[in-house]
Amino acid sequence: MEVLTTKLQDSAAKKFYIESYGCAMNFADSEIVASILNGNGFTASTTYADADLVLINTCSIREKAEQTIRSRLHIFRQAKRSNPGLLIGVLGCMAERLKSKLLEEERLVDLVVGPDGYRTLPMLIEAAEGGQKSVNVLLSREETYADISPVRLNSNGVNAFVSIMRGCNNMCSFCVVPFTRGRERSRDAVSIVKECSELFDQGYREVTLLGQNVDSYHWYSADEQDISFAMLLEQVAGISPELRVRFSTSHPKDITDDVLQVITRHENICNYIHLPVQSGSNRVLQLMNRTYTREWYLAKVRRIRELMPDCGITSDIIAGFCTETETDHQETLSLIQEAQFDMSYMYFYSERPGTLAARRYADDVPEAEKKRRLDEIVKCQNKISQFSNRKDIGSISKVLIEGDSKKSEQDWMGRNSQNKVVVFPKENIALGKGDYAMVRILESTGATLIGQVIPEAKN
Ligand code: SAH
Ligand code: SF4
Ligand code: F3S
Repeated sequence: MEVLTTKLQDSAAKKFYIESYGCAMNFADSEIVASILNGNGFTASTTYADADLVLINTCSIREKAEQTIRSRLHIFRQAKRSNPGLLIGVLGCMAERLKSKLLEEERLVDLVVGPDGYRTLPMLIEAAEGGQKSVNVLLSREETYADISPVRLNSNGVNAFVSIMRGCNNMCSFCVVPFTRGRERSRDAVSIVKECSELFDQGYREVTLLGQNVDSYHWYSADEQDISFAMLLEQVAGISPELRVRFSTSHPKDITDDVLQVITRHENICNYIHLPVQSGSNRVLQLMNRTYTREWYLAKVRRIRELMPDCGITSDIIAGFCTETETDHQETLSLIQEAQFDMSYMYFYSERPGTLAARRYADDVPEAEKKRRLDEIVKCQNKISQFSNRKDIGSISKVLIEGDSKKSEQDWMGRNSQNKVVVFPKENIALGKGDYAMVRILESTGATLIGQVIPEAKN
């Protein structure tokens, strides 16, 4: 009995600390990991200094992402020197990419667990506590963690991410994700709708449905109903008109008219689509294996604007992919002009070992040239973003309040349907986190819109 009590006290006292890098899916996975660990006697700690277990959920998308993680590991290793009992675990995409090699490279790491192995964490931790280095990097064709209720970490209580699928079956030649996340599989729609309803009941007012390619979501229900992404969106939107629904990411080749129609039918599905184009040159798009052309992409953008003139559209762009010429680069700049993205995430190409591009094509654009092109792309996009924000001045936006503005407790911060950040004075209006406010936009600074609430139009 005494032994048991001690063991219980021991395990009750165990603390884990988790840090996440990379895309929203990694952050969502960390919430699944937290749930699994909570169920096994661990409590979350907000600092690594007093933790028994430090986990780092990693990203491999670009070399720089991996470098950032290596320097964090270096700091954790120092903590381990002063606390030899501390266990260090590497999770996520870098764990999957490097597998046990990571144990050789980073000698003080005790655990290496890939994105589909989190259910085995308690077992692996126990083995590591016994002095064994533990690795589980098996990828699965079925795992979706559908039955696990994520424990929300660093949450504002308003916005939550909900994974609807895992993996990716596309083979964009530059991309490491299919190798680190495995085959695409969709999560049970019933469990998704249940999770979103529970979030709503807990006070959350916005869910973002996550997947590398949400438009290829497909799930067969027990009664043999074939649930598409458009149907899933509609079900989630039906939970409550007060629950905002977003989704990410859409692949231009897969987003359907059905999905666009569902968005137009539901006021609470945000008029916002992240539609990564990657390049404006057909030759480069083909080498990237994106399976669409510039013309096809621009037609999609036109169709979105035809159905939803006020839809926010953002993109991802890669500068300096293998063999990219100045002419190809100019085509990317002209596509950005034509598409008029509200915002873009822009990167220079970083070769990832094992990808199709790394095996087939020479990474032959010199680094300085990649950076010059990226710089031009960023300048071009910034001008368009500023123009897009200036156009909003004078309009009225429905804003979901997420909390205090970063700069002042006197101001609220939230986002409008188009995903733009809006800041406005609290004044004496009875509004709070999770409420909707109608805000007149008065000015724009950088990426932020500044406005004033219209009291009589509350909601
Ligand atoms: N599934 C999403 C993208 C996931 S990765 C999609 O298909 O759109 C996010 C972004 O990182 C990509 O859109 C791409 O622009 C960028 N990216 C991916 N691999 C990269 C690489 N090797 N070098 C530079 N950027 C890369
Ligand atoms: Fe990578 Fe392409 Fe899949 Fe996106 S769709 S995760 S870029 S392979
Ligand atoms: Fe990075 Fe893996 Fe996401 S490589 S972008 S964390 S899927």
